[in-house]
Order: sequence, then C-alpha cells, then structure tokens
Amino acid sequence: MKPIRVAMLGCGTVGREVVRLLREQADELAARAGAPVELAGVAVRRPHKHSDLGDLITTDASGLVTRDDVDVVVEVIGGIEPARTLLLEALKSGKSVVTANKALLAEDGPALAEAADASGVDLYYEAAVAGAIPLLRPLRESLVGDRITRVAGIVNGTTNFILSAMAASGSSYADALEEATRLGYAEADPSADVDGYDAASKAAILASLAFHTRVNAADVHCEGIRAVTATDIAAASAMGCVIKLLAICERTPAEDGVPESVSARVYPAMIPAAHPLASVDGAYNAVFVEADAAGQLMFYGQGAGGAPTASAVLGDLVAVARNRVLGGRGPRESAYASLPVRPMGTL
Ligand code: HSE
Repeated sequence: MKPIRVAMLGCGTVGREVVRLLREQADELAARAGAPVELAGVAVRRPHKHSDLGDLITTDASGLVTRDDVDVVVEVIGGIEPARTLLLEALKSGKSVVTANKALLAEDGPALAEAADASGVDLYYEAAVAGAIPLLRPLRESLVGDRITRVAGIVNGTTNFILSAMAASGSSYADALEEATRLGYAEADPSADVDGYDAASKAAILASLAFHTRVNAADVHCEGIRAVTATDIAAASAMGCVIKLLAICERTPAEDGVPESVSARVYPAMIPAAHPLASVDGAYNAVFVEADAAGQLMFYGQGAGGAPTASAVLGDLVAVARNRVLGGRGPRESAYASLPVRPMGTL
C-alpha cells in the first residue's frame, strides 16, 4: 500500500512526541490507517537542535508543505503567522491538515475550513482544545444530531496547575508558573495562559462547533488569573469553595422576538468544593456538555503536555490517513451559520 506521507511544521514539546509515537507505533498505526504513515520532512527554525532527525529536517517550510510527495501537513508551530500562510498553502495544494493551533482556528478558522472544502481535503484539530481529551470529535460527529445548549469547564492546564498548586501547597504564583513552563504545559508566551487568551481561543472553537456557528476569539469575554491572590484562594476556601478559570459557552433560544444567540466567556470563578470541577487539579481539564437529548456529559483528562497533546494529533493523523486510503472526508464546516454573539452571556 502506498504510504501516507506527513510533513510536520515545528518540532517542540508536542512535535517531538509526535515523532516518537510515529516511530514507536509505526506498525500499529499502519494497520489502523490502512497504509504506512511516514514522516516526509520536519520544518524547524533551528535545525542544529534536531540533528537526530537527519535528512528529514528543513528550514524551508513553504517548500515542504507544497511538495508533491506530501499528503498531510501536521502543524505544531502555534501562533497566527507563519502558520496561517503555510496551512492555506498546504490546503490549496490538496494536502490535508492536522493542527493543534487554537489561536489560528479561533481567529481564522473559517478561512481554513473554506480552503479545505474548496480542495476536498480534511482539516482536523482535536489537539487544539483540551489536550488528550476526545472532545472536538464528539462535538463535530457523535453529538451532531443533538442540540447542544451549553459547554462549560476548565480548558487551560497551565492556569489550573497554578491555581491547584497555590491552593494545595501555598506555592507562589511565580513558582507555580515556572513549574508549569518546565513541565511543558505553558505556551511559548505564558501570558496567553494566565491572561485567559488561550482559554478564550478554545472557548471560541468549542462554541463554534457546539452551536454550528462562527465565534472568534474577539467575541469571547476574557479575564485571566493574574489578579488572583493567595488571599482570594484562602477566602474561597474558608467559604467551602475553590477558584478555577472557567470557559462557558451558551446558546440562548429565540424568545419574545429576540433572535437566538450564543455567548462565550472566560473568567476565574469560585465554585463549591463539592462540584465535580473543584477536584480537577494540576494540568487536567474537564468539560461539561449539555444537550437536549443526551443530557449532561462530562469529559475529563490531561489537557496539556507533550504526550497527551501528541495523542490527539496522532488520532487525527490516523483519521485523515484512513480517509485518504478509503477516499472519504471528515466533517465540513465552511457552511456554518452566523448566530448573533452576546459578549457577556446571561448575567
Ligand atoms: N498552554 C496550554 C494549556 C496548552 O496550558 O492548556 C494546551 O493547549
């Protein structure tokens, strides 16, 4: 069987784990995908740091994503540019894309979806939200026949790690952030985590998928955890509560002539210690989904880190490879509606 050839953009914490798993599980992945899944090249900015990858390494990312022998592009660079330009080039050249890039999807997801649909290729991005937790696939596929009304939970591992460490061991904010960075949870610029923008990007993606509409990061009301002090945490504890950074996405039905609308917001909230989200500690994430027919569902697992995020990338890679082998395609999202977005939801 002709192999599925993969170009990877970036080789940091997640990319290194993707390479490891592709190599260690090559036979199993080939059996599950229906064809060998092979690395064709890895584009990086500093090649001297990746000498173990030998001839696979290139600094010419644009040349790599349009190469004739590449079928799928995996993007783990993060940030808006050059990722946007490279992924649009890849999609227009007929390559399927697997990306972990929440910032890009939350800012320009529709452009990527339209480019994928125009070329008849796949765009998968399970790793963009909640690390290893299978959450986007259920929203995009399993629950597509239901009517989702609410998606809410903890979607940033770094801030959850910091708040948990401050509450459990009295760690200082700075020490906990340093440890989260050392463990590979934080973004390259951790202000995206602590100021809530990472969670806001994820909320935009969740709201878009759950409500079949377009919500971008700028639509999401966003407050981070920088202002949360040890005194706040102690005061919450004295009241039988914990502080968690929550992302809440809601759909409000049409009523009294007011059209249906959606909202998404991110903010540090006090929640009762008995609530299931209160016991989600460290870099774990947990998300509740409420749907008319399904009722309440809870998704829980490791939300950040190299190996958990690589698990989601590999899952997408096998799905895309299967589609290529069998001639199918994953979900199409370019025809989403545009429901009005209310900035603060129902306060
Ligand atoms: N910095 C992110 C987090 C990584 O801490 O959740 C996973 O998206």
